[in-house]
Amino acid sequence: MGRGNIVVFDSGLGGISVLRELKKLMPQEHFRYFGDSALAPYGTRPTEQVRRLTLERIRQLSDADTKAVVIACNTATSAAIEELRRTYPKRIIIGIEPALKLAAERFPGGRILVMATNVTLREEKFARLMQRFSDTHEIGKVPCPGLVELIEQGCLRGPQILGLLHGYLDPWLDRRVDAVVLGCTHYPFAREAIRQVVGPEVCILDGGEGTARETRRRLLEAGLLEQTGTGSVELQNSLDSPQMLERARWLLDLKEI
Ligand code: DGL
Repeated sequence: MGRGNIVVFDSGLGGISVLRELKKLMPQEHFRYFGDSALAPYGTRPTEQVRRLTLERIRQLSDADTKAVVIACNTATSAAIEELRRTYPKRIIIGIEPALKLAAERFPGGRILVMATNVTLREEKFARLMQRFSDTHEIGKVPCPGLVELIEQGCLRGPQILGLLHGYLDPWLDRRVDAVVLGCTHYPFAREAIRQVVGPEVCILDGGEGTARETRRRLLEAGLLEQTGTGSVELQNSLDSPQMLERARWLLDLKEI
């Protein structure tokens, strides 16, 4: 007995990479996706501002029928997840975070790069996560300002994005890299370009699938998982233009990312 909607939130179009996984795993659920593209990127803003924006958006988006909220934005999770959980103690709230644990387990003693926004990489939450593996692994933090903006524009490949990625990644590629963690939900849409830069041997991981699995587990545990009927996806964006909604739909329906 499911009933109710699942709010999926991101600063822009990136969370659609998580929505794809949610939809794949729970095709009978009703998802309400909101991307705050009018105010993206969040990842270069002061943390306090990201926290305020996230709380405000979740307050506007959730209603009495909301059974879960998925923060499909690493930046918003690092800035606001604790405050959100304090504000809505009874609600299921899932926040994505960089899949560093997965990478560390897969490559014991390995050399791992974490690509993410400035906010995610400088916040306490990531420092705690990194500390768990920094004695046993070599972990490199790779902030990528500008990448979110390109992906918001629908630029997923070509010389412009490759140039930016070379600038951020080349300094790390003088020695073997085992894994690259995509710690921002926009980046999976640039996976092919990132692959071109890091080469075919490097494992590229993101947290989308793990977040979807955790959401399913929590809904099942609460007796709220929808297991009958036809699911639905409602796409909303603070840039309420036909192009933006079309771009969101395009990213949701892309064959592969
Ligand atoms: N997609 C968001 C994330 O996962 C950040 C994008 C932004 O900077 O707005 O971190």
